[in-house]
Amino acid sequence: MDVQTQQTDNEKRKRVFSAIKPTGNPTLGNYLGAMKYWGGMADEYDSLFAVADLHAITVAIEPKELRENTKRLFALLIAVGIDPERNVVFLQSHVRAHAELCWLLNNYTMFGEARRMTQFKEKSQKAPENVNVGLFDYPVLMAADILLYQADIVPVGDDQMQHVELCRNIAERFNNRYSPTFTMPVGKVNKVGARIYSLADPTAKMGKSNADDAGSVFILDTPDVIMRKFKRAVTDCGSEVRAGKDKPGITNLLAVYAALAGITVAQAEKEFAGSDYATFKTRVGEAAVEGLRPVRERYEKLRADDGALLELMRSGAQKAERIAYRTLEKVYKKIGFVRL
Ligand code: TYM
Repeated sequence: MDVQTQQTDNEKRKRVFSAIKPTGNPTLGNYLGAMKYWGGMADEYDSLFAVADLHAITVAIEPKELRENTKRLFALLIAVGIDPERNVVFLQSHVRAHAELCWLLNNYTMFGEARRMTQFKEKSQKAPENVNVGLFDYPVLMAADILLYQADIVPVGDDQMQHVELCRNIAERFNNRYSPTFTMPVGKVNKVGARIYSLADPTAKMGKSNADDAGSVFILDTPDVIMRKFKRAVTDCGSEVRAGKDKPGITNLLAVYAALAGITVAQAEKEFAGSDYATFKTRVGEAAVEGLRPVRERYEKLRADDGALLELMRSGAQKAERIAYRTLEKVYKKIGFVRL
């Protein structure tokens, strides 16, 4: 073996981890802000992607809904291009190490830093009758997800960056208290599509749990529903198609188009210079229909065979477990637990 090959073999590929919660219906925002890029990462990285089902119960959810959402999301991850042969795709609850490491990390997380999390504050306000301890602990479980796999890179939309920062603080605290144990992860946000806003209210995030369906385009919406939502999208004063603070609606639609077409917002602006709002909205809608069509087709095939889907879950979990338990054992030992 020549020196160069040896070097390449010895170089450890960087590892990527990300996850998505099976609450509500996955949107174009989830797709453009996160999922669309995940499939291609296996070329360069060791990649693991999870359905964060344990996170889903921090908000009230019916058993039937949790089950269906979880299967749907798992199939969707594969449908958007995450090949289970080249990536590890699995359900968080199938790898018990997540809940275990979360408990351990709780003891290295300060109440004050968890209390500052914007999402905790927002969700507490939204459902004041269900401000449970799980909701508070949510970012610690997320830290466990990331640290179990010694991830170098965590691709997320920008609403999750604060949680990744907290994860880094926890890792640093643990590494300093004992000895280097966890890889320090870095959150990575895509420039285009980092935050897609509601089509009905371009000041609010396009959310998968939004009751207001008109503002959220769901990945599995049919072509005519997608077109209707884009045609009705809220626009701004004036008639010029350009991005700007004074034009949140048009800016959002330009971002959607740019992310779908794989171009920059400036390039999208150029493409629509001189176009009127109605034509522009139709073109964005058509781009979304075309972008999502192959995803929906692959999804439907995957959902036609429940047994095969469960088999994919099983093999994903087995692969994930091997990595996760190695980290978990290390953590137990460092803290001083007696191991058998
Ligand atoms: P979740 O399920 O809310 O969202 C999944 C991913 O989609 C991104 N996203 C968006 N991006 C752009 N525009 C939007 N409107 C939009 N809405 C959502 C999110 O930023 C996210 O990247 N806590 C996480 C799941 C999780 C996780 C983890 C992520 C659990 N463990 C470990 C990374 C690492 C969540 O609720 O994402």
